[in-house]
Amino acid sequence: MSAIPFCLPDSITAEQFLSDYWQKKPLLIRQGLPQLIGMFEPDDMLGLALEEDASARLLIQSATKTNKNTANGQANLPQWQLKKSPLTEADFDQLPEQWTVLVQNLEQWSPELGQLWQAFDFIPQWQRDDIMVSYAPKGGSVGRHYDDYDVFLAQGYGHRRWQLGKICDEQTEFVEGEPIRIFDDMGEIIFDEVLEAGDVLYVPPKLSHFGVAQDDCMTFSFGCRRPNLMQIIDSIADVATNDSDLFIPMLLPQALQSSGELQAASIDAITTQLLQLIQSERGADIIRQAVCEVVSKRQYDALVPEETVNTDELMQSLVEGATLQADYSNRLLYNKNIENQNDNPVTLYANGQRLDGLDDESIDLLSRLADGEHLALNDITDVDPDDLMEWLENGWIWLNYSE
Ligand code: SIN
Ligand code: CO
Repeated sequence: MSAIPFCLPDSITAEQFLSDYWQKKPLLIRQGLPQLIGMFEPDDMLGLALEEDASARLLIQSATKTNKNTANGQANLPQWQLKKSPLTEADFDQLPEQWTVLVQNLEQWSPELGQLWQAFDFIPQWQRDDIMVSYAPKGGSVGRHYDDYDVFLAQGYGHRRWQLGKICDEQTEFVEGEPIRIFDDMGEIIFDEVLEAGDVLYVPPKLSHFGVAQDDCMTFSFGCRRPNLMQIIDSIADVATNDSDLFIPMLLPQALQSSGELQAASIDAITTQLLQLIQSERGADIIRQAVCEVVSKRQYDALVPEETVNTDELMQSLVEGATLQADYSNRLLYNKNIENQNDNPVTLYANGQRLDGLDDESIDLLSRLADGEHLALNDITDVDPDDLMEWLENGWIWLNYSE
């Protein structure tokens, strides 16, 4: 069982969203996430921003926009000020009219909020980054900008006016001297709507956007991520370090040449051997593991769970109807190697590490949890309660009492 329907309009299927909108064009989904309504008050998020372990930023905007280049050639003061956590109450004293506080990684603080990721289950879990909240009083914004990733902007409280403009690229210039990446010109405005609590706006990468609070306003950004090639290359090197064969010097054909020269032919011969490795079964194993490790890494350090249950309490809660669910502040995913005829083809990864030594029941249950299933007592009869305890303590799963 999985509780939350997809955050899509009735007229658009998940397949249509992926082929027509994903990474291509924006989509407004009125009341796409009604579960968010009433979940938090602004004070909850302002309190969280002050927590010692929170990843928070306070962005303060001066009242008037100044011309950056003055007649005498001196640049004016920046229009924005950025203060990163730890934030204190004093930071919130005497703020001007327009400011925004942003808190990242909210699923670490509220697994209930984290569960709302299930509304986006048409995007694989490994492409999720985190949920960020922005709170702003009327007029507050984070400026005109674009992001490199896809984001679902879900209105949780109050109203925000969103404008969307041109598609940006690496040449798009940002305003100089500001602590955040913003620009003035969004080109032609292609969208201009006010979102209310429960509404969601999907914004693809590189599309310029500008959201201004219309009143006390909280927007929850369900942000996505994808690895870059550098991370994969790095991870391949890490994984390959365990392969002692790769440390044996290569055999290379040698033609007579000037002693000072390194010939292109020698580099070609090395390239050929490298490509052969990459295209071999061993290379595929290395790449598979490298990719799984990168995309299952968490972006933020884990916080120590405040309260834990013991094995008896866990089993009793399950008897009383609680369920086990993946904890989305951790990264649990599986990969199926269909070439593998002998062993279980499924390999699990959690928080950047391969999980070795799991029995078939555990592999099955953890895969179902990674797929978003809520497991009840009758689903877990074949697994050792101590294993469940370990998964809970590792933070991979979460005990939901409210079902
Ligand atoms: C905001 O919620 O104000 C900013 C989110 C974003 O632009 O990605
Ligand atoms: Co943005």
